[in-house]
Amino acid sequence: MSLTGERQTSQHPAGSGLHGPAPVHPYARPASPKAAPATIRLDEDSLLSLGRLFGSSCVTPWSERGHGALDARDYELLELSDHFEVWVIHWPSDGLLQLHDHGGSSGALYVVSGSLDEGTVSAANTHERRSIGAGQGTSFGPRHVHDVVNPGPDVATSVHVYSPPMEKMTFFTLRAGGLVPDHTEYRADPTWAP
Ligand SMILES: [Fe+2]
Repeated sequence: MSLTGERQTSQHPAGSGLHGPAPVHPYARPASPKAAPATIRLDEDSLLSLGRLFGSSCVTPWSERGHGALDARDYELLELSDHFEVWVIHWPSDGLLQLHDHGGSSGALYVVSGSLDEGTVSAANTHERRSIGAGQGTSFGPRHVHDVVNPGPDVATSVHVYSPPMEKMTFFTLRAGGLVPDHTEYRADPTWAP
């Protein structure tokens, strides 16, 4: 019997010469989705701390990579768990991600080099913009909608943390009556880009 009370049988093929139950890795993910641990949503302070930690310890700004010019956003997944994910994104000059939500995930943005402008929509339906410089960041809850743009002449590099990992993003257009959904992109899409 296994520790879970289930009968455990050998996974070795007959005639392999090996006997007894196959070893169970102590940190193996549950095979059944029903047994998966409840998803944890990290709080906003923790998300920003993670962004700062990754950004200050394991991210090289684009300008130091020797890759030359950048024509479009470049992104790389640094970490993915059941509970959060971490991305590094390089933004070309004028690189923009239009107004979007995060599919119900909370998040944080930490600027490693250059600066980014974050645009949000006020209760009065005006588009507000603020600058986030190198070494600064912001965090947000699950209903946050913003756009992000690199206003500078050089490539900007930032770290983005989401909890739980995003499954979709809906993009919006700002009209006189408020935000109007434009389209939704899903993680399974081949063009997925956070
Ligand atoms: Fe975002």
